[in-house]
Amino acid sequence: MDMVSPLILVNLKTYQEGMGRNAHRIAAAAETVAQESGVVIGIAPAFTEIHPISHHYAIPVYAQHIDAITPGAHTGHILPEAVRAAGARGTLINHSERRLTLADIDACVQVARRLNLESVVCTNNDSTSAAAAALGPDYVAVEPPELIGSGVSVSKADPGIIERSVNAVRSVNPDVKVLTGAGIQSGECVKIAVDLGTCGVLLASSVVKADDPEAVLRDLVSML
Ligand code: G3P
Repeated sequence: MDMVSPLILVNLKTYQEGMGRNAHRIAAAAETVAQESGVVIGIAPAFTEIHPISHHYAIPVYAQHIDAITPGAHTGHILPEAVRAAGARGTLINHSERRLTLADIDACVQVARRLNLESVVCTNNDSTSAAAAALGPDYVAVEPPELIGSGVSVSKADPGIIERSVNAVRSVNPDVKVLTGAGIQSGECVKIAVDLGTCGVLLASSVVKADDPEAVLRDLVSML
């Protein structure tokens, strides 16, 4: 990987196994493995846990979503400034489970840039990866929806989507880094993804639902 250190980004979604003290357990495991390995491991917890996790652990924290609003009367929305103030380093945008319109994605990328929040725009194939890259986020994360939470790894089941997305993003905007996700569960999955030109992975269930998240994280970084 040319000069960019890989990112392992663990999305806790709204899993029971990723709430409250479970979120702390996963964050502590991520901190330990990151310190041992030198690999950057980030966590995207529930909004309510951005502040405690970012203040208790030396790992980058990401929001799972933001709304492109400015402070004011927007009850029930996620204010990007609040996410930043709570300690987030960045945010997912357009996750497969929280899809947005193209105009909304653009607005979210712009507000993230203005607030110095890293933007990770999720996509479902190489065409949408190219479209997302045109908006100039920090990362595009391609995840085939049918493999999300399936236990079947994109790296093994569909390496072509990774390769095509890397090429599509590079041809549109070479400054945009690519992540991939869906079913990622081992060091081998991560290595395949990185060898195909990504800067890391976005994953959830293999870590969040594990009996021993630290052991899974150690395996995930083992071939980097
Ligand atoms: O955000 C990551 C996610 O959508 C992939 O989920 O459970 O297949 O690793 P999972």
